[in-house]
Amino acid sequence: MEVIIQPTEEAAVKLTARIMADQLRARPDMVFGLATGATMEAVYAELARMCREEALDFSNAKSFNLDEYIGLPAEDKNSYRYYMDHHLFNNINIKKSNTHLPNGMTDDIPGEGPRYEAAIKAAGGIDLQLLGIGQDGHIGFNEPLSSLSSRTRDKSLTPVTYRQNSIYFNPPESMPRRAFTMGVGTILDAKRIVMLVTGKRKADIVAKAIEGPITSMISATAIQMHPHVVVILDEAAAANLKEQEYYRWTFANEPCWDRYR
Ligand code: PGA
Repeated sequence: MEVIIQPTEEAAVKLTARIMADQLRARPDMVFGLATGATMEAVYAELARMCREEALDFSNAKSFNLDEYIGLPAEDKNSYRYYMDHHLFNNINIKKSNTHLPNGMTDDIPGEGPRYEAAIKAAGGIDLQLLGIGQDGHIGFNEPLSSLSSRTRDKSLTPVTYRQNSIYFNPPESMPRRAFTMGVGTILDAKRIVMLVTGKRKADIVAKAIEGPITSMISATAIQMHPHVVVILDEAAAANLKEQEYYRWTFANEPCWDRYR
């Protein structure tokens, strides 16, 4: 794992988008694993800007999102399909048919996970998985006690997640209590992971995820087992990390980061 601390949220967002863009330029038929949430909105705005102003080309790219609420149709403003269309897909030249989210309206809840896994496999697997982290340490909607080898399935959401996300619903009680999510094992199968975490409200949980013991109580700790992870933080989110000096030294000195400094 590499940890990069950027001076501001804006710098952390720009670095994340640049890494994604560089991977896409190197491999135009990239398969992205994508995340939703407030943190990612600025990343998607930056990717859309690059598509518009710098000819970043998504025409051969594919995407699979981490998760989707169960029971929300695509046109519901709180569905993750709506979020992705609004923040990214409508603003770049990706083919909509190449964008995938679990089907929150399926009649076959037990069948949706295996169907989604098969679609990821048929696309050749995920090349780069973008991740955020929830206040309870979830990645995707892998709430505490999710098996570290879990696959895409339906999951009950925790009260912490309910409090974090129900603010977007009107009324808040209309937030679904269940969602489909890629499993921790699905996420770990991605060839590369980029996690972006900003803001001081995440400082405690991200320190546990990066430097704490691996535990299914904090599914984000599983990324410690992945061979190719970069975690990008702003100063506020990095505040509780013990090895900050080492992370800063590495980013300042490793030749692979030369072009990003
Ligand atoms: P946030 O969500 O970006 O809205 O904080 C992240 C998450 O819950 O994974």
